[in-house]
Amino acid sequence: MPLLFKKNDSSKGEPARVAVDDRLRHIAFILDGNGRWAKKRGLPREYGHSEGAQTFKRIVRYCGDIGIKIVTVYAFSTENWSRPKNEVDRIVSLLDEYIAGAERELEENKIRYTFLGDKSVFAAPMAERMTRLEQISSGYELRLNIALNYGSRAEIVRACRELAESGEEINERTLSDHLYTAGCPDPDLIVRTANERRLSNFLLWQAAYSELYFTPTLWPDMQPADVDAAVRDFYARERRFGGVTPK
Ligand code: FPP
Repeated sequence: MPLLFKKNDSSKGEPARVAVDDRLRHIAFILDGNGRWAKKRGLPREYGHSEGAQTFKRIVRYCGDIGIKIVTVYAFSTENWSRPKNEVDRIVSLLDEYIAGAERELEENKIRYTFLGDKSVFAAPMAERMTRLEQISSGYELRLNIALNYGSRAEIVRACRELAESGEEINERTLSDHLYTAGCPDPDLIVRTANERRLSNFLLWQAAYSELYFTPTLWPDMQPADVDAAVRDFYARERRFGGVTPK
């Protein structure tokens, strides 16, 4: 089936935008290149993160506009704590501001938020804001998962430990049910920016059959047109999930 296009208002001269169907329900982004974006401009790395946070809002909105139901972003890994303190502080405060804003704008944006990762390491008011946002947004359909203080290996170990403690049968379904992403379909497409080609401990279990897309664009420069390019590339692929193409 060909890629779907949304007809825009041609009187405004807008190019046709991509639109998706159920084959692309879930897109995940590994945000990379904030530091390089700032360095290219002779600015401290923190500026790259501020710009990256603006880009994040723009791209999430665009994904919703073209019909993607679930967006996941890798915003802060368990390894990111090893960065200089001022950089970590800036990223965490950007995230905290974003979370507070998401609560204020919840009725307008109608997004269901889930945080992937261990919240307990954040200051109590921020951790409480995260939990509250998850609770009050749980009825909405469009989903935004934000991986924060997240590492996939730790997530899998945690799930195994919970299963061992509960005495539940261990199988793929029960393990999936104990991941931070429980109940959420696996990503169909994972996009990584800034020319790096690895998963960096992101959704290792959930990415078993995800399509991977790598772009040289630095995250703060990411535009709707770059999302369109990733979506077009996704639709040009054949997903067989280990099977064969039906004749
Ligand atoms: C990767 O770029 C980016 C991060 C580790 C942090 C991402 C954080 C934000 C975009 C800010 C907060 C976001 C939200 C969701 C409001 P890098 O610093 O590794 O870039 P580099 O590889 O060029 O150094």
